[in-house]
Amino acid sequence: MIRAVYDFATGPMLWFSSAFFLCGLAYRLVRYRVLMSKARQGLPADFRPGWALASIVHFLLPLNRTARSSPWSTLAGFGLHIPLLVVGLFFSAHVVMVEQRFGLSWPTIPDAWADGLTVLALASLAFLAGKRLLHPSLKGLTEGKDLAVLGLVALPLLTGFAAHQQWGESLLMLTLHVLSAHAVLIVAPFTKLTHMALFFVSRAATGSDFGKREVGPW
Ligand code: HEM
Repeated sequence: MIRAVYDFATGPMLWFSSAFFLCGLAYRLVRYRVLMSKARQGLPADFRPGWALASIVHFLLPLNRTARSSPWSTLAGFGLHIPLLVVGLFFSAHVVMVEQRFGLSWPTIPDAWADGLTVLALASLAFLAGKRLLHPSLKGLTEGKDLAVLGLVALPLLTGFAAHQQWGESLLMLTLHVLSAHAVLIVAPFTKLTHMALFFVSRAATGSDFGKREVGPW
């Protein structure tokens, strides 16, 4: 039974989740563009690509003001995102699966790196969740769904780590890992995880506007 679920999750369901994820993010980008055009109707079209790009770069490096005022949160942000992207895209088991299903392949990281990076991502998630629960001003802004997103992102990391350490029943752990990764892909376009696409366009818009007003776009 578990074998059948695993085969389905690493086979047909992979096509479905990937397509849903990509189409969902594309839909959110198009919708953002439509809403933005409506909001700007009648205003002069004076988008400033230079300010927009500078603002994105300042956030990614990070040279923005938030990075200076909240260094620990910034560190946790990078401690979460670097492992997510590096392990998600370059862990050998992931690359092999993509190669088998989609015929695409690229270099991998040494397997030993995956454990350390996953622990770093989990520690960063715990920090971000702790801050949401304890920080006086952030506490008031935090809703259940914010914590649910953090928990959802933690699930594939926890189960992937457990599977790699061979904790519990190996096939069960791997199946839970793959299913929780599908859950992240499927909900991403319709939760705050959509920021993986919208970050770039909303930061570009803010950077351009704030740059024009000379109040500092980052
Ligand atoms: C192009 C890729 C991405 C960009 C540019 C990006 C950018 C950001 C930024 C600017 C923040 C807010 C600051 C911070 O906490 O670091 C953030 C938070 C976060 N991101 Fe991403 N991200 C990306 C991909 C992802 C992916 C793939 C996931 C998970 C599947 C993810 C999960 C999260 C989570 C859980 C938070 C914390 C939210 C919270 O504290 O409530 N991000 N991201």
